[in-house]
Amino acid sequence: KKRLTVRDIRSKKGGPLVCLTAYTHPMALLVDEVADLILVGDSLGNVLYGFESTLPVTLEMMIAHGGSVMRGSKRACVVVDMPFGSYQESPVQAFQNAARVLVETGCHAIKLEGGEEMAETVSFLTRRGIAVLGHVGLMPQHVHARGGFRRESDVDKVVADARAIAQAGAFALVVEGVKEEVARAVTAGVEVPTIGIAAGDASDGEIRVTEDLLGVTPNPPGFVEAESGIKDAMRKALSEFAESLTKPKA
Ligand code: KIV
Ligand code: NA
Repeated sequence: KKRLTVRDIRSKKGGPLVCLTAYTHPMALLVDEVADLILVGDSLGNVLYGFESTLPVTLEMMIAHGGSVMRGSKRACVVVDMPFGSYQESPVQAFQNAARVLVETGCHAIKLEGGEEMAETVSFLTRRGIAVLGHVGLMPQHVHARGGFRRESDVDKVVADARAIAQAGAFALVVEGVKEEVARAVTAGVEVPTIGIAAGDASDGEIRVTEDLLGVTPNPPGFVEAESGIKDAMRKALSEFAESLTKPKA
Protein backbone atom coordinates (compact mmCIF):
# COMPACT_ATOMS: atom_id res chain seq x y z
CA LYS A 1 0.00 0.00 0.00
CA LYS A 2 0.99 3.56 -0.64
CA ARG A 3 2.13 5.80 2.19
CA LEU A 4 -0.33 8.34 3.52
CA THR A 5 0.68 11.92 2.83
CA VAL A 6 0.02 15.07 4.82
CA ARG A 7 -2.67 15.85 2.22
CA ASP A 8 -4.39 12.55 3.03
CA ILE A 9 -4.34 13.47 6.71
CA ARG A 10 -5.55 17.00 5.97
CA SER A 11 -8.53 15.57 4.04
CA LYS A 12 -9.77 13.50 7.02
CA LYS A 13 -11.80 16.20 8.75
CA GLY A 14 -14.46 14.30 10.68
CA GLY A 15 -12.10 11.37 11.20
CA PRO A 16 -11.37 8.66 11.93
CA LEU A 17 -7.68 9.42 12.26
CA VAL A 18 -5.60 6.88 14.15
CA CYS A 19 -2.43 8.46 15.50
CA LEU A 20 0.20 6.86 17.72
CA THR A 21 3.71 7.64 18.84
CA ALA A 22 6.78 5.55 18.02
CA TYR A 23 10.39 6.26 18.89
CA THR A 24 12.12 3.10 17.66
CA HIS A 25 12.31 0.80 14.65
CA PRO A 26 10.62 -2.23 16.29
CA MET A 27 7.73 -0.14 17.65
CA ALA A 28 7.33 1.62 14.29
CA LEU A 29 6.93 -1.79 12.59
CA LEU A 30 4.02 -2.62 14.92
CA VAL A 31 2.34 0.78 15.03
CA ASP A 32 2.52 1.14 11.24
CA GLU A 33 0.04 -1.75 10.93
CA VAL A 34 -2.77 0.41 12.38
CA ALA A 35 -1.75 4.08 12.39
CA ASP A 36 -2.55 6.74 9.80
CA LEU A 37 0.00 9.04 11.40
CA ILE A 38 3.03 8.15 13.50
CA LEU A 39 4.43 10.88 15.73
CA VAL A 40 8.02 10.66 16.87
CA GLY A 41 7.13 12.67 19.96
CA ASP A 42 9.51 14.50 22.24
CA SER A 43 7.66 12.52 24.93
CA LEU A 44 10.53 10.12 24.29
CA GLY A 45 12.36 12.28 26.84
CA ASN A 46 10.01 10.98 29.54
CA VAL A 47 9.19 7.55 28.16
CA LEU A 48 12.60 6.37 26.89
CA TYR A 49 15.12 8.57 28.67
CA GLY A 50 13.53 9.02 32.11
CA PHE A 51 13.57 12.84 32.13
CA GLU A 52 10.88 14.58 34.17
CA SER A 53 9.92 16.85 31.28
CA THR A 54 10.52 17.08 27.55
CA LEU A 55 12.86 20.07 27.95
CA PRO A 56 16.18 18.15 27.94
CA VAL A 57 15.41 16.51 24.57
CA THR A 58 17.80 17.60 21.80
CA LEU A 59 17.50 17.93 18.03
CA GLU A 60 20.10 15.16 17.67
CA MET A 61 17.92 12.78 19.72
CA MET A 62 14.87 13.59 17.59
CA ILE A 63 16.82 13.06 14.36
CA ALA A 64 18.23 9.72 15.55
CA HIS A 65 14.81 8.40 16.60
CA GLY A 66 13.07 9.92 13.56
CA GLY A 67 15.37 7.99 11.21
CA SER A 68 14.80 4.80 13.17
CA VAL A 69 11.01 5.16 12.89
CA MET A 70 11.14 6.01 9.17
CA ARG A 71 13.06 2.80 8.50
CA GLY A 72 10.39 0.81 10.38
CA SER A 73 7.27 2.33 8.79
CA LYS A 74 5.88 1.92 5.30
CA ARG A 75 2.28 3.11 5.36
CA ALA A 76 1.84 5.86 7.94
CA CYS A 77 2.56 9.54 7.54
CA VAL A 78 5.51 10.22 9.88
CA VAL A 79 5.83 13.46 11.85
CA VAL A 80 8.80 14.36 14.05
CA ASP A 81 8.46 16.71 17.04
CA MET A 82 10.71 19.77 17.20
CA PRO A 83 12.30 19.82 20.66
CA PHE A 84 12.32 22.79 23.03
CA GLY A 85 14.72 25.54 21.97
CA SER A 86 15.00 24.40 18.35
CA TYR A 87 12.27 26.64 16.86
CA GLN A 88 10.96 29.32 19.24
CA GLU A 89 13.67 31.91 18.64
CA SER A 90 12.78 32.90 15.08
CA PRO A 91 11.26 31.63 11.84
CA VAL A 92 14.79 31.30 10.41
CA GLN A 93 16.00 29.19 13.34
CA ALA A 94 12.88 27.02 12.99
CA PHE A 95 13.43 26.60 9.25
CA GLN A 96 17.08 25.63 9.62
CA ASN A 97 16.37 23.01 12.28
CA ALA A 98 13.17 21.69 10.68
CA ALA A 99 15.00 21.31 7.36
CA ARG A 100 17.68 19.27 9.13
CA VAL A 101 14.98 17.00 10.57
CA LEU A 102 13.36 16.47 7.15
CA VAL A 103 16.65 15.97 5.30
CA GLU A 104 18.31 13.72 7.87
CA THR A 105 15.29 11.52 8.73
CA GLY A 106 13.20 11.52 5.54
CA CYS A 107 10.04 12.23 7.58
CA HIS A 108 7.05 14.03 6.07
CA ALA A 109 6.38 16.83 8.51
CA ILE A 110 7.40 18.37 11.80
CA LYS A 111 5.29 19.27 14.82
CA LEU A 112 5.76 22.29 17.02
CA GLU A 113 3.93 23.54 20.10
CA GLY A 114 2.38 26.99 20.15
CA GLY A 115 -0.53 29.28 19.41
CA GLU A 116 -0.78 32.80 18.04
CA GLU A 117 2.85 33.55 18.96
CA MET A 118 4.04 30.76 16.61
CA ALA A 119 1.73 31.55 13.67
CA GLU A 120 4.37 33.62 11.85
CA THR A 121 6.82 30.71 12.11
CA VAL A 122 4.27 28.15 10.89
CA SER A 123 3.53 30.37 7.89
CA PHE A 124 7.27 30.83 7.20
CA LEU A 125 7.79 27.04 7.19
CA THR A 126 4.71 25.98 5.23
CA ARG A 127 5.27 28.60 2.51
CA ARG A 128 8.78 27.21 2.08
CA GLY A 129 7.75 23.56 1.74
CA ILE A 130 7.85 22.27 5.30
CA ALA A 131 4.58 20.66 6.39
CA VAL A 132 3.64 21.48 9.98
CA LEU A 133 1.42 19.72 12.51
CA GLY A 134 0.30 22.21 15.17
CA HIS A 135 -0.08 21.53 18.91
CA VAL A 136 -2.33 23.69 21.10
CA GLY A 137 -3.93 23.46 24.54
CA LEU A 138 -1.63 21.96 27.14
CA MET A 139 1.90 22.42 25.84
CA PRO A 140 4.35 20.25 27.80
CA GLN A 141 7.34 22.41 26.75
CA HIS A 142 5.76 25.26 28.78
CA VAL A 143 5.83 23.24 32.00
CA HIS A 144 8.11 25.63 33.91
CA ALA A 145 6.55 28.84 32.60
CA ARG A 146 3.12 27.52 33.59
CA GLY A 147 4.23 26.14 36.95
CA GLY A 148 3.34 22.55 36.13
CA PHE A 149 1.39 20.43 33.67
CA ARG A 150 -1.86 22.40 33.81
CA ARG A 151 -4.95 21.91 31.72
CA GLU A 152 -5.70 24.87 29.49
CA SER A 153 -9.25 25.95 30.38
CA ASP A 154 -9.60 29.28 28.55
CA VAL A 155 -11.76 28.27 25.55
CA ASP A 156 -11.34 31.56 23.70
CA LYS A 157 -7.55 31.38 23.99
CA VAL A 158 -7.32 27.81 22.72
CA VAL A 159 -9.71 28.50 19.82
CA ALA A 160 -7.78 31.66 18.87
CA ASP A 161 -4.48 29.74 19.03
CA ALA A 162 -5.88 26.90 16.91
CA ARG A 163 -7.31 29.28 14.30
CA ALA A 164 -4.02 31.18 14.05
CA ILE A 165 -1.99 28.01 13.50
CA ALA A 166 -4.50 26.55 11.02
CA GLN A 167 -4.64 29.82 9.08
CA ALA A 168 -0.84 29.87 9.01
CA GLY A 169 -0.93 26.60 7.07
CA ALA A 170 -0.75 23.69 9.53
CA PHE A 171 -2.28 20.54 8.00
CA ALA A 172 -3.77 19.33 11.30
CA LEU A 173 -3.67 20.21 15.00
CA VAL A 174 -2.95 18.20 18.12
CA VAL A 175 -5.24 19.40 20.93
CA GLU A 176 -3.90 18.28 24.30
CA GLY A 177 -5.16 18.50 27.86
CA VAL A 178 -8.38 20.45 27.48
CA LYS A 179 -11.98 19.76 28.50
CA GLU A 180 -14.15 18.10 25.90
CA GLU A 181 -16.12 21.30 25.27
CA VAL A 182 -12.88 23.14 24.47
CA ALA A 183 -11.86 20.41 22.01
CA ARG A 184 -15.35 20.59 20.49
CA ALA A 185 -15.09 24.36 20.01
CA VAL A 186 -11.63 24.03 18.44
CA THR A 187 -12.77 21.22 16.15
CA ALA A 188 -15.73 23.31 14.97
CA GLY A 189 -13.53 26.39 14.63
CA VAL A 190 -10.88 25.10 12.22
CA GLU A 191 -11.08 23.46 8.80
CA VAL A 192 -8.18 21.11 9.39
CA PRO A 193 -8.56 17.92 11.44
CA THR A 194 -8.01 18.06 15.19
CA ILE A 195 -6.22 15.20 16.93
CA GLY A 196 -7.06 14.93 20.62
CA ILE A 197 -5.19 13.60 23.63
CA ALA A 198 -6.56 13.97 27.15
CA ALA A 199 -9.19 16.14 25.49
CA GLY A 200 -12.38 14.09 25.75
CA ASP A 201 -13.97 12.56 22.69
CA ALA A 202 -14.78 15.57 20.48
CA SER A 203 -11.75 15.74 18.17
CA ASP A 204 -11.59 14.47 14.58
CA GLY A 205 -8.85 11.98 15.45
CA GLU A 206 -7.07 10.73 18.53
CA ILE A 207 -3.41 10.26 19.44
CA ARG A 208 -1.91 8.22 22.26
CA VAL A 209 1.60 7.64 23.51
CA THR A 210 1.90 3.99 22.49
CA GLU A 211 3.65 2.93 25.70
CA ASP A 212 0.81 4.51 27.72
CA LEU A 213 -1.75 2.59 25.66
CA LEU A 214 0.17 -0.64 26.16
CA GLY A 215 0.57 -0.02 29.89
CA VAL A 216 4.38 -0.18 29.81
CA THR A 217 5.29 3.40 30.82
CA PRO A 218 6.97 3.64 34.23
CA ASN A 219 4.59 6.35 35.58
CA PRO A 220 1.53 6.39 33.34
CA PRO A 221 -0.57 9.57 33.39
CA GLY A 222 -4.01 9.34 34.99
CA PHE A 223 -6.08 9.42 31.80
CA VAL A 224 -4.44 6.37 30.34
CA GLU A 225 -6.40 3.21 29.55
CA ALA A 226 -6.38 0.30 32.00
CA GLU A 227 -3.43 -2.05 32.51
CA SER A 228 -3.02 -4.27 29.48
CA GLY A 229 -1.14 -7.09 31.21
CA ILE A 230 1.79 -6.59 28.85
CA LYS A 231 4.11 -5.51 31.65
CA ASP A 232 3.25 -8.71 33.52
CA ALA A 233 3.98 -10.77 30.41
CA MET A 234 7.37 -9.04 30.12
CA ARG A 235 8.14 -9.72 33.81
CA LYS A 236 7.19 -13.37 33.32
CA ALA A 237 9.50 -13.78 30.32
CA LEU A 238 12.37 -12.18 32.25
CA SER A 239 11.87 -14.22 35.41
CA GLU A 240 11.52 -17.44 33.40
CA PHE A 241 14.90 -16.71 31.86
CA ALA A 242 16.42 -15.89 35.25
CA GLU A 243 14.94 -19.03 36.82
CA SER A 244 16.16 -21.20 33.97
CA LEU A 245 19.70 -20.27 35.07
CA THR A 246 19.29 -20.94 38.80
CA LYS A 247 20.70 -24.44 38.58
CA PRO A 248 24.48 -24.47 38.78
CA LYS A 249 26.21 -26.09 35.79
CA ALA A 250 27.39 -29.63 36.49
O1 KIV B 1 5.46 14.13 22.39
C1 KIV B 1 4.36 13.57 22.19
O2 KIV B 1 4.21 12.33 22.28
C2 KIV B 1 3.22 14.42 21.86
C3 KIV B 1 1.87 13.77 21.81
C4 KIV B 1 1.42 13.41 23.18
C5 KIV B 1 0.88 14.58 21.09
O3 KIV B 1 3.40 15.59 21.64
NA1 NA C 1 5.47 16.37 22.12
